[in-house]
Amino acid sequence: MWEGERRNKVSRETDVHGGAERDRTVDLLSAIQALSQTELQPHGGGDDSTAPARPSTARRPLDRSDRIAAGGQPMEPRDSLTVTDNRTGKSYDIPVENGAIRAMDLRPLKTGPDDFGLMVYDPAFLNTAACKSRITFIDGEKGILRYRGYPIEDLAEHCEFLEVAYLLLYGELPSRAQYEKWVHDITFHTMLHESIKKFMDGFNSDAHPMGILVATVGALSTFYPEARNIHDLAVREQQIHRLVAKMPTIAAFAYRHSRGLPYAYPDNDLAYTGNFLGMMFKMTELKYAPNPTLARALDILFILHADHEQNCSTSAMRGIGSSHTDPFSAVAGAAAALYGPLHGGANEAVLRMLEEIGSKDRVPAFVKEVQQGHGEKRLMGFGHRVYKNYDPRARIIKKIADQVFEVTGRNRLLDIALELERIALQDDYFVKRKLYPNVDFYSGIIYQAMGFPTSMFTVLFAIARTCGWMAQWEELLLDPEQKIARPRQIYLGPEDRRFVPLGKR
Ligand code: ACO
Repeated sequence: MWEGERRNKVSRETDVHGGAERDRTVDLLSAIQALSQTELQPHGGGDDSTAPARPSTARRPLDRSDRIAAGGQPMEPRDSLTVTDNRTGKSYDIPVENGAIRAMDLRPLKTGPDDFGLMVYDPAFLNTAACKSRITFIDGEKGILRYRGYPIEDLAEHCEFLEVAYLLLYGELPSRAQYEKWVHDITFHTMLHESIKKFMDGFNSDAHPMGILVATVGALSTFYPEARNIHDLAVREQQIHRLVAKMPTIAAFAYRHSRGLPYAYPDNDLAYTGNFLGMMFKMTELKYAPNPTLARALDILFILHADHEQNCSTSAMRGIGSSHTDPFSAVAGAAAALYGPLHGGANEAVLRMLEEIGSKDRVPAFVKEVQQGHGEKRLMGFGHRVYKNYDPRARIIKKIADQVFEVTGRNRLLDIALELERIALQDDYFVKRKLYPNVDFYSGIIYQAMGFPTSMFTVLFAIARTCGWMAQWEELLLDPEQKIARPRQIYLGPEDRRFVPLGKR
């Protein structure tokens, strides 16, 4: 076993000892090596752990802590990571800030002048923080979700959706006066330009409402060209009002178009979700009166879906927003990302799966099929990239279900879902992989009981998530560290090749 391999093995083995001991072991090994051969990159600015490391080729004199470590004494803890590049034998001191190192601090690790520098390979961003955020906190192991510091359970119990939208966007819960103004601003932007209606008329009647939503929200950018002025606070705020206000109208119009029903215009007397239910389901009555239990249930479902930090669609929103395009185009892109069955499209897929299973007694066979599919066939509505304990939103949704079913009657698919959850949670395959019901496992069953067709489920998600996308977009624009998003790649394709003209191939 060569030296570098042995050292790596030691580092891995010491991992089992956990935090402090591991750090000391790694530091000690590095320091011993430092005494013998090191060219160290200086820690940018002494004890100032927030200062970024600067690339340097200067030889760093060994400091006191190196000598103590080399003498066998534990080193003083520091906010840095000592990395030894076994390709060159050089060690580097890299600052640790907020539990992370900067990927750019690895770039100076080179094998020679032609080397581009060390990169981090992280497909699907499993362990890469792409931003600093103050909006949503998730602890996936403990099943915690907070918006701006407030537990999701408290917000779902005590707030209206627009109150939570304000919190996400402005960072604080609104005062009564602030809330009234906010509700007024949103209510007065709910109408759509008549030409947008005509634009929507152009879709086939069997067009998926999510496809209509993606296209229509993108088309809004042509109606509000001033939205391009993203650096103007007042302009940004106006687009936020428009987007939060108009998404339910677009969603409802998409549905009514698919049913061949006349569009129902917004009713400013109704609250956000009540108005949406009206635009969806109003028939010939002069005044639509939403069922308060259903309107409240929808409000809570919207609160639960309002933001979820750096998920696929939010990352899309930030990625697109980073090119400084207008927010309507960026939201269209984010909504397109949400459309996929592994993300917001999962609630629709759950319903299809439950229909496919058909009855409670067929659940065990279905679970077996999923296991034997080895990832090919999935239990939709199960599993989450971040939650490895339970999804706190799923727990809240389960509670709402009973209230909704009291009004609508019990959804026959609920029994299949409950049985599926019961069996899966006892099954080794799911337990070992920490697969629990996520937010989408029960939301579809509730939406269906409320009268929403399956194809509208992801659209409902998009309405709620719009305020999260907007909050994250603003945060991105105001973050001086952000630039246009541009990941690197590891190129493994052919080297330089000689071109052969078409006739000679
Ligand atoms: N059913 C069966 N097996 C699953 C499931 C599932 N729902 N989810 C993950 N697994 C298995 C995988 O096959 C893999 O098994 P392996 O280790 O034997 O290869 C293991 O669990 C880990 O799975 P990954 O795909 O690596 O997990 P990842 O974190 O990348 O995926 C995701 C998370 C996409 C949510 C996944 O669990 C999934 O596809 N779930 C079903 C779709 C779904 O419900 N999406 C909604 C998510 S919530 C939201 O977006 C609002």
